[in-house]
Amino acid sequence: MNNFINPRYFIDVNSLVKEAIEFKSQGSNNSEIGRGKTMVLLFFNASLRTRISTQIAAEQLGMNVLFLDMSSSWNIETEEGTIMNFDTAEHIKDAAAVLSMYADIIGVRAFAKLEDKALDYSDHLINALHKYCTVPIINLESSIRHPLQSLADMMTIKEHSGSTKPKVVLSWAPHPKALPHAVANSFLEWAQLCNYKVVVTHPEGYELEADFMEGHILEPDQEKAIENADFIYVKNWSATSNYGKVLNQDEKWMMNKAKLQKANNGHFMHCMPVRRNVVATDEVIDSPDSLMHNQAKNRLHAAKYIIKTILENG
Ligand code: CP
Repeated sequence: MNNFINPRYFIDVNSLVKEAIEFKSQGSNNSEIGRGKTMVLLFFNASLRTRISTQIAAEQLGMNVLFLDMSSSWNIETEEGTIMNFDTAEHIKDAAAVLSMYADIIGVRAFAKLEDKALDYSDHLINALHKYCTVPIINLESSIRHPLQSLADMMTIKEHSGSTKPKVVLSWAPHPKALPHAVANSFLEWAQLCNYKVVVTHPEGYELEADFMEGHILEPDQEKAIENADFIYVKNWSATSNYGKVLNQDEKWMMNKAKLQKANNGHFMHCMPVRRNVVATDEVIDSPDSLMHNQAKNRLHAAKYIIKTILENG
């Protein structure tokens, strides 16, 4: 593995998840592998888990880590051939060339702007970095994917599942803000590559792209969808038909204990940050069936495994 951007570049996602769990269980000291190497973290958006877990992971592997908050750096241009006489001060190809001379690995977080669906779904910023950087890139949430979150989620499911084909439900939840599709897309993509039985439930207007829905069942009735589910991943994403808008805030979609009980006490999952009593009730989030903190813990192990693998590949 030379980059960690899109799981479709990997040969076998199931093996990757298993190996990451094995690596976690070894708890081995790998502090030599990254010695003398530098990771640069470029963040265009806010973060708690991704920022901290990636930095700790890289440092535990012996790397130096430099963080750049892109809101305090130059505005980056990604379009080719643009006359840069307006807002943007530096082209991605120049930034990428310079950063590749300083860093051994670059991690980048750049969310969807939720204004132009075609532009967001081209994943232009991370793809441009990949094109112009000469060092490995790690996706720390791009416009349409959040693969480190998904690796942590798949590890969590595997660690808590008695079956090789658990029933996994992705259930839309209300939220006052328009959120990107990256977590939902990535979760569906990884669950498909892991061969899980996946049911998706959401209100009208929130249909996810066919590429990410491939192999999955859509059930508009949330209670039917979660019947006998082993894992219920609750997540908001903004509208797709009216791209990037909030069309629905109906609290009947919030996850509560009664629904979980009907679902045969399936495990509650969420990537965090979570809006309590909007997305899910306190009772659900704080219940023993909640795996939310396990997922967050696995973010560190997932990041460490991926950075180690990239460093080993030289
Ligand atoms: N789940 C996740 O990516 O959290 P942060 O946005 O806090 O990094």
